[in-house]
Amino acid sequence: MKNLISSFSYLDYKDNLLNLDNIPVNDLVKNIETPFFLYLPQRFKQNYLALKNSLSKRLPKFQIFYAVKANYLGKILLDAKKLGLGLEIMSLFEILLARRAKYSFNNIIFNGPAKTELELTTYLKENSNARINVESLNELVLIERIAKKMEIKPKVTVRIHPNLSKETEKRMLIKKSSKLGIDYERAKKLFSFAKDSDFLEPVGVHVHVGTNLSSHEFFNELFDFMNSYIESLRKIDIQIKEVNLGGGLAPPNVLIRENFSLYRFAEQIVTKFENYKDLLFLFEPGRYLIADSFIALTKILQTKKSWGRKWAFVDIGANSLVPLRYSIYSVIPLFFKGKGQYCNLGGPLCLPVDIITKEAVDFMVENDDLLAVLNCGAYTLSMSEQFGYPRPPVYELNEKGKLKLIKPSDDIERMVEENFSNLE
Ligand SMILES: Cc1ncc(COP(=O)(O)O)c(C=O)c1O
Repeated sequence: MKNLISSFSYLDYKDNLLNLDNIPVNDLVKNIETPFFLYLPQRFKQNYLALKNSLSKRLPKFQIFYAVKANYLGKILLDAKKLGLGLEIMSLFEILLARRAKYSFNNIIFNGPAKTELELTTYLKENSNARINVESLNELVLIERIAKKMEIKPKVTVRIHPNLSKETEKRMLIKKSSKLGIDYERAKKLFSFAKDSDFLEPVGVHVHVGTNLSSHEFFNELFDFMNSYIESLRKIDIQIKEVNLGGGLAPPNVLIRENFSLYRFAEQIVTKFENYKDLLFLFEPGRYLIADSFIALTKILQTKKSWGRKWAFVDIGANSLVPLRYSIYSVIPLFFKGKGQYCNLGGPLCLPVDIITKEAVDFMVENDDLLAVLNCGAYTLSMSEQFGYPRPPVYELNEKGKLKLIKPSDDIERMVEENFSNLE
C-alpha cells in the first residue's frame, strides 16, 4: 500500500490514518454520509501545470483542451476556464455545458463521428474560430452546407486511424476495426474535398487511438507514422498546420509508476516532427487531468466468505465506478488496522460485474470501515447510471481544507416519481 500511495503526492499515512494534504481524511469526512466523491481542484491544477510546463520547455506552439466527456462537472469546467484550458466536446449537451460555464467558444474543439446539423449549427454560431474534427465525407458535406449558409470558413481537422504495427494495434483501445477515425488513405479524400471548398479550411490531422497510455515506445511509433503522413499530404498539396494528438495519457500516478516522463514526451514530439517547425500541436487530455483529482469515499456494508474467498461489499457500485477495460481504481483504508486476509471488493449491486478493484486488497476489513477509492475521476460520473441506486453527491476540498457540496446526489423520491410521469 505504501508503494501505491507513494505515487499520489497528496496522500500519506500518519499513525495509520490516511492523510490528504496533511489532513486526516477521517476528520475531513466526519459528518458526511457515504458514498460520495471528493474533487481535488488543486490536483487538477497541478496535473495541468505539469503537462503545460513540460510541453512549453520544448514545443514552440501548443494548446491543451480538456476532454469534457471524461468528467463534465460544472466546477471542473469553471476551474479549467480559470486555468486557461480549452475544451474538447462531443455533443449538444457538452456545448450547452460550455456555454453555461461562459466558456469562450474560440477555444473549443468539436469532436465525434456523427454530429447533427443542430449540434454543428449551435457550435458554429457561437464560434469565430471553429475547429471541428471530422471523420467522414458525409459530415464534411454537411459542415460545408452549414458554413456556406452562415458565410464562414471553419477549420477542419481530419481524424485518421494510423498505420501501426500489429502488436501495437492489438494493445490499442481504438483499432482498425473500430468505428472511430477513418483510415489514413481514405482520409486524403476528405482533405482534398476540404481544400477545394470555399467554406472549409483543412488545417490539421487528428489522431486518438488509446487511453491510459504510458509508453514512450508507442509514441515514437505513432509520431514516426504521423510525420511521414504529413509528408505524404504535402505531396498532394495539403499543407498541415496543426497536429492534434488527441488524449490518451495515463494519470500522473500511473506515469510515475511506468517511468514515463512528460518532458521526454515533449522531446519526442520535437525530435520526430523536426522537419515541421511551424506546427501547432493540440492535446485533448481527459483521464490524465481528472482521474486522480477524484477520490470516492465508501463504507463497508457487509463481508462474507464463499468458496475460500473473502468478500467485502461497499456502498458504492459499478453504476458510478463504471468497470471499463481501462479502469484503474485502487482502494485503501482510511484507518489502516494491519494486514489482513486477501479480500475482494464488490459494490452493492445485484450484478456480477459490480467489482471495485481487479485485485483483492490485503489490509484488514470489517463492517463499517471507511475506504478511499483512488483514480476514479475519469469516465465515472459522466458515464454513471441510476442502476437501482441514486448517484452519489460530489464535494470539493477547498483551499481552506473544508468540504463543499458541488453536486447533490440524485433525489430518490424524484427517481421514483419520474417513472410514473403522466400515468395518473
Ligand atoms: C477524440 C478524443 N479526444 C480525447 C479523448 C480523451 O481521452 P483520455 O481521457 O484518454 O485522455 C477522447 C476519449 O474518448 C477522445 O475520443
